[in-house]
Amino acid sequence: MSKHSEPTKTPVVASNMTLGVIGAGVMGQTLIRGMISSGVIAKDRIWAGDKHSAVSAKAAEALGVPVETDFHHRVPTADVILICVKPGDAPVVLGTLRNAGLRQDTLLISILAGVSTDRIESLLGTRNPVVRAMPNTPAVVGEGMTAVCAGSSASNTHRDRAQRIFEAVGKCLPVDEIHFNAVTALSGSGPGYQFLIMEALADAGVRVGLPRSLALTLVAQTALGAARMVLDSGRHPAALRDDVTTPAGCTIAGLLMLEDGRIRSVLARAVEEATKTAAHLGASTGKISENPSSHRASSGSDH
Ligand SMILES: NC(=O)c1ccc[n+]([C@@H]2O[C@H](COP(=O)([O-])OP(=O)(O)OC[C@H]3O[C@@H](n4cnc5c(N)ncnc54)[C@H](OP(=O)(O)O)[C@@H]3O)[C@@H](O)[C@H]2O)c1
Repeated sequence: MSKHSEPTKTPVVASNMTLGVIGAGVMGQTLIRGMISSGVIAKDRIWAGDKHSAVSAKAAEALGVPVETDFHHRVPTADVILICVKPGDAPVVLGTLRNAGLRQDTLLISILAGVSTDRIESLLGTRNPVVRAMPNTPAVVGEGMTAVCAGSSASNTHRDRAQRIFEAVGKCLPVDEIHFNAVTALSGSGPGYQFLIMEALADAGVRVGLPRSLALTLVAQTALGAARMVLDSGRHPAALRDDVTTPAGCTIAGLLMLEDGRIRSVLARAVEEATKTAAHLGASTGKISENPSSHRASSGSDH
């Protein structure tokens, strides 16, 4: 069941607190939508900012919250600010927040891939509590997977507060920051791998005579069901696989072909490579400009 259909009774922030979201793109809008529909924060306590007026207007209409290009006057009102821009935009955004009168007690939550809490703290140059998060795109359907960790000035209470935000769009777990590049590679980039595997299996179905749309439905629902079995049963995937592998049957025939193709090492190498890439993502974040609007850092990729 989607998290959206399980409204949370306790607000993530007290009723008199305000949450700002910088960057109203895919993730920013997804998180706002999830927070509102799961009831973790009231709609009238959220505002957002995006540098594009067209994006802002569209997002404001879709979400029913203020989304503005000139959001600076709202910064001092925020108790929590969620930063949802590309990694390369971190110096500009952090500079904007600092120069717009960011309060020292405002919790900053960053979803920027590859940008460490250390890096955010040093770019910002304040003692604000910082929490780093790595969500993924299934958050759009309330089935996201997010890891969170606290920076040097953030307490467990700050981290828990961030965790509640991401639980509005799926699962969220606290993870030591040392593992964040691996998390980025495994669950951040994971939907990309799953889409490729599903596409390949659907092609395989077409190869053996199935109409494409039927093949794709069979594959996607099977992936969903298998994932649900792993999560709900708590059993090892190998045990679940053994259960469906009858002697001299079809499944063992298919599995052996996958092993011949070295599927395990290919997947392990893919994650290893993505982990190395994640480690370099934050490197494009430069220094904060005193005049952020005049500075455009090179844009990092998502992950
Ligand atoms: N999408 C994913 O699967 C995913 C998963 C996990 C984490 N993330 C992380 O989430 C972050 C956002 O990703 P996204 O896919 O939501 O990006 P996005 O769709 O590009 O949204 C970011 C929005 O923020 C705007 N922006 C840039 N600089 C700004 C500034 N100084 N002030 C206000 N708005 C500004 C962007 O404008 P421009 O287009 O001009 O830059 C864009 O409209 C990235 O750091 C990524 O690493 C993404």
